[in-house]
Amino acid sequence: MEQKLIINAQDVQTKTTIFLFDTVNQFKNLGEETQNYLQSKLDKKEHFIVFDNWNVLSIYVFIDTTEKTRHSGYLSVQEIKKQQIDDVSIVDYSQGEQGILPFMEGFLLSLYSFDKYKSKANDSSLDIYLTTQKEQAIQEIENTVEAVCIARDLVNEPSNTLTAEQLSHEIEALSISHKFNAEILTLSQIQSLKMGGLLSVNQGSSLPPTFNILEHKPENPQNSQPIILVGKGVVYDTGGLSLKPTPQSMDIMKCDMGGAAAVVGAFCAIAKNNLPLHIIGLIPATDNHISNTSYAPGDVITMFDQTTVEVMNTDAEGRLILADALSFAKKYNPELVIDLATLTGSALHAIGHEGIVYMGTTNKETKQALEESGNNTHERLVEFPLWEEYSKQLKSPIADLKNIGGPSAGAITAGKFLEHFTSYDWLHLDIAGPAFLGGADSYRSQGGTGVGVRLLYDFLKTKAENN
Ligand code: BES
Ligand code: MG
Ligand code: ZN
Repeated sequence: MEQKLIINAQDVQTKTTIFLFDTVNQFKNLGEETQNYLQSKLDKKEHFIVFDNWNVLSIYVFIDTTEKTRHSGYLSVQEIKKQQIDDVSIVDYSQGEQGILPFMEGFLLSLYSFDKYKSKANDSSLDIYLTTQKEQAIQEIENTVEAVCIARDLVNEPSNTLTAEQLSHEIEALSISHKFNAEILTLSQIQSLKMGGLLSVNQGSSLPPTFNILEHKPENPQNSQPIILVGKGVVYDTGGLSLKPTPQSMDIMKCDMGGAAAVVGAFCAIAKNNLPLHIIGLIPATDNHISNTSYAPGDVITMFDQTTVEVMNTDAEGRLILADALSFAKKYNPELVIDLATLTGSALHAIGHEGIVYMGTTNKETKQALEESGNNTHERLVEFPLWEEYSKQLKSPIADLKNIGGPSAGAITAGKFLEHFTSYDWLHLDIAGPAFLGGADSYRSQGGTGVGVRLLYDFLKTKAENN
């Protein structure tokens, strides 16, 4: 939906108004009848109350937990869509620290839809008049939500239009509009660098791979060593010769660049909100297609860092392209590297769409900070172990490693594979579950969710504040 957010405009009259409260006392100037009605609803623990008075809609939102308040934002948008409303006032009476912020976050995230391929255009629009004292924080949320929607668009774009090269063009365009740096390495450069993982996955494709380097470097950054974000950019995963079945598997594999989308979205939020940190993004991008030139199970390939890998399954391609990016990251002497990838069905099976499976070699404090950001943004994380015993599953009789483990602990053996290519503090986020939804779940839209953008932004912002 086309939307315009206007903050603290004077003398605006709209038919629909949303009022936000956090204590009952704030109802006082509403008149006794409304006050009693709201109180009776609150007594029944209803925090979202719609008052329809001859088509003049008043929505009363009582601030609850952050996540419930985001959900109230979603419910408000449902009401607006149902009634085909084209302007709304939001009046913030709440006094708490958060209040309007998660509400607006949920509200704005819920306005998203991907309809560029509908021949009948959705020409609805919404003017949002917001009265609040928290103008700057709202601006920051608006920027972050926009970044989430950029990530959603990238994931929702099908692979017949979003090829690896097109992904790079999008990154270039966003680097200009959002003011960060982008350097795109093309096939010949990737060949010169001998990125054997990326080249092998790309081998069956008629379309070239790219390797994207993003950089946000403000003046006087707070960190002397950069933080690196790595995103899996498989624009389509057929599985290769180890072909995937179609239903609920290959048919959703345009989502396999969800990690890349999260990194690009995070850069948009970071740059637009001027985060005072030096951050680098690395995105290896290709499709994983099938042809007579495809890499094959049994092949031994040599990775960027010279490790040899026996490919036992061409569908375990994400770890191959990520491994090259993780080895490449060493040259920056990073403080911390975080990769995001739709890496394993195993992570999805373990915890479903509700959270991110993560693991890593960094210290407890950093993991705790990440988990806290997960709770703040409701992009929650569960840590899986990287115990040494799991690496036995990756032993190859003829090469340094093989690219799959056994039938159990698939998310972990994928993590163990990646760990081999790291030599710094590292976090690995397997977003295979929450990256893509069959149907909308509250303010998380159907299709690409943009998961990771708000999480990374919150984590890095908190890091900048505590440096
Ligand atoms: N892209 C898939 C993982 C995936 C599954 C993402 C479901 C989103 C939803 C990945 O490349 C893959 O195919 N992984 C295999 C690894 C296996 C062959 C060891 C898997 O998880 O089945
Ligand atoms: Mg695969
Ligand atoms: Zn994949």
